[in-house]
Amino acid sequence: MNHVENTQSRWQRLWKWLKKPLLLGIPIGVVLLLLGAGSFQGMMVLSNQNAFCFSCHLTMDTIVQEYKASSHYGDGVDIPATCADCHVPHPFMDKMKVKILAIADIYHMMAGTVTKENFESLRPAMAEKTWKTLVASDSGTCRHCHQGDNFDLSKQPQRARLNHEKMASRGETCVDCHQGLTHNRITIR
Ligand code: HEC
Ligand code: HEC
Ligand code: HEC
Ligand code: HEC
Repeated sequence: MNHVENTQSRWQRLWKWLKKPLLLGIPIGVVLLLLGAGSFQGMMVLSNQNAFCFSCHLTMDTIVQEYKASSHYGDGVDIPATCADCHVPHPFMDKMKVKILAIADIYHMMAGTVTKENFESLRPAMAEKTWKTLVASDSGTCRHCHQGDNFDLSKQPQRARLNHEKMASRGETCVDCHQGLTHNRITIR
């Protein structure tokens, strides 16, 4: 009898403790925070994979087909650069900005604003936006790979070297010259 009373009061004490909203809030908050942190990391990694970008751009426009025919897709096994490698900036805050803007993309997708039929007419504006972003970062994503030993001017053919040497003094950046590298060149501007 004595034993049961003891257990009951222990549970009652625990229940009383749990009922205090603040104390209950702490463990729940911690669990949510841990879950949130885990899936947040997961989302950041997952959303950088080609499959994520393909999921919309494969049927919406011709971007994926063009990418697959480009040098940056390589043989499709050893892929030199993914969509995100070029389009998702490296510094964390810039990355977050892009992710938040991508939510706007989801809205457009739902609304079906971009289709294979109207893509070419929308394309110049999308390209302008992309160039503007890349120019603002001095083509940061390109330079992330094309630097140091991977951008050794002395090993480049003359035409490339001559252009690259003058780039800084002329205030030019990669995408000023290398346009339509991965996607069809824009003709109407
Ligand atoms: C949920 C569907 C969806 C996914 C997933 C998606 N996009 Fe888009 N993307 C769109 C739509 C819709 C547009 C056109 C938006 C507009 O006109 O502003 C777009 C436009 C773009 C543009 C053109 C510039 C701009 O902001 O309009 C780039 C670059 C781009 N996406 C790259 C990517 C990359 C890289 C990924 C993968 C990390 C990706 N997208 C994943 C739907 C998507
Ligand atoms: C993730 C790394 C990576 C990123 C990001 C990247 N590249 Fe490349 N790039 C490569 C590799 C690797 C090759 C060699 C591919 C091959 O031909 O086998 C290459 C090849 C090239 C070439 C020569 C081949 C050709 O098609 O003319 C140019 C020019 C080039 N890149 C420019 C750019 C520009 C401009 C950007 C940014 C918009 C960029 N790269 C972003 C890795 C990258
Ligand atoms: C002023 C124009 C200009 C700018 C700016 C420029 N390039 Fe080039 N690049 C060229 C030309 C021209 C070639 C030679 C292409 C050819 O002969 O088909 C070239 C060639 C290349 C090649 C191939 C080199 C090889 O070994 O064959 C790569 C890679 C490349 N550029 C990357 C870049 C990157 C990355 C940037 C930015 C850091 C950049 N370029 C900025 C004009 C430019
Ligand atoms: C090597 C870097 C690179 C890779 C890889 C790449 N892009 Fe782009 N993307 C660019 C550049 C630079 C532009 C600006 C227009 C141009 O020069 O072609 C652009 C433009 C775009 C546009 C605007 C429409 C247009 O044709 O200009 C969309 C949408 C886009 N990219 C989506 C993607 C998606 C989705 C992938 C993967 C399937 C991808 N990109 C892979 C560099 C890249």
